[in-house]
Amino acid sequence: MNFPENFLCGAATASYQVEGAVDEGGRGASIWDTFSHTPGKIHHGDTGDIACDQYHHLEEDLDLMSELGLKAYRFSVAWPRIQPEGSGATNQKGIDYYRRLVDGLRQRSIEPMLTLYHWDLPQALEDRGGWTSRETSERFAEYTGIVYEALSGEVGFWITLNEPWVSAWMGYGLGLHAPGHKESAKALAATHHLLLGHGLAMERMRSAGDENQLGVTLNLHPARPSRDREADREAARRVDGQANRLYLDPLFRGEYPEDIFSYYEERDVDLSFVQDGDLEKISAAFDFLGINYYFRNTVRDASEEDLPEMPFADLGARPVIPHDAEKTAMGWPVEPEGLTEILVRIKEDYADVPLYVTENGRAVHDYIDPEGDVDDEERVSYLDAHFRAAHDAMEQGVDLRGYMVWSFLDNFEWAEGYSKRFGLVFVEYGTQRRVPKMSARWYSEVIRRNGLQ
Ligand code: FCB
Repeated sequence: MNFPENFLCGAATASYQVEGAVDEGGRGASIWDTFSHTPGKIHHGDTGDIACDQYHHLEEDLDLMSELGLKAYRFSVAWPRIQPEGSGATNQKGIDYYRRLVDGLRQRSIEPMLTLYHWDLPQALEDRGGWTSRETSERFAEYTGIVYEALSGEVGFWITLNEPWVSAWMGYGLGLHAPGHKESAKALAATHHLLLGHGLAMERMRSAGDENQLGVTLNLHPARPSRDREADREAARRVDGQANRLYLDPLFRGEYPEDIFSYYEERDVDLSFVQDGDLEKISAAFDFLGINYYFRNTVRDASEEDLPEMPFADLGARPVIPHDAEKTAMGWPVEPEGLTEILVRIKEDYADVPLYVTENGRAVHDYIDPEGDVDDEERVSYLDAHFRAAHDAMEQGVDLRGYMVWSFLDNFEWAEGYSKRFGLVFVEYGTQRRVPKMSARWYSEVIRRNGLQ
């Protein structure tokens, strides 16, 4: 099984999850600094203060990427390193850091794929309403302009947002992520202002008139009923509406899904944040769609139940983990067929645009064994199955151009802290020693032969 020539195989990380050095280089505070330092929010009280300390281990990490033969590295820029207060003057030291990173990648022939927003909003902007405020969309475009001007010559792939569903619903709807609000109305406003921010940022970058590839990354999950019942099918339709169509429809078609908007309107949610002209901006053409795929949303109707704080509770739907599914250390079901399904759906329901898997991977209870190895067979078979699933979609005509494994390194897994390991490379946090796992060696081979055996 081979990938097309020039298929871009790489690995991904995100600034707050790997950089550490939160008080260095003039960096301001982000919502994740505040949230992780709030007692009770993160497993074990972990924070990203040190994380993988990539800020100080940059050369070593770049060499390791090169040793593994990665063709691309997807990373994110920490907005508060560029604008410590979220607006105003540029912090040159922040730009310098990312320039070092990008130059280091280029020198090693690794393609940089830059994400502008992977959740570390400057705290100063959150203090003025964060993503519930329209001002944040404008600030985001301004920040994008600064980074684009500095690095557009060296970076060919630009991703505006990472997973706006997670930013909006985990951060503003469920309170499980920063900034920790718990209101569906806020999550909907945040959704719109994130998408508007994407549109305004695209406008900024496009106006430079160069050849770079510009896109956005969504976490997509096929939704399906857990039982063959009408009420469950309806619940799955609502979940599909919030998790997938609420983002895909405005981006591809310039409209919000009717059913979801009326669902919230009927519950007296004020949706007046959508202004004339916004949807044209949001739906301006992009060059590629990034897809992060982990699992399907299998749900059942729970509209008569009093649900705890969990995804889709406000939709009267309850996630169900299929009994027969293998589960990862996150408790997520292993469902490679969902990846084929979602890739094909984009082509069939929306458009035949270039796609990249910008994240896929699994958490394993990894450890260094007495021989000094990390034998993560589960990760190898997970990735093997998902690469095959992606290949199936390509055989059905999907224009998939690359695949970024989550993650290059074990790192700060948000509310789970350091307890969940997703890396191809093991990080011994106390010493910052990096130990490539069995999956890293396997992936090197996959990249070398540009296919699977
Ligand atoms: C995604 C995030 C990424 C990582 C993986 C496991 O939702 O984009 O930062 O945490 O999940």
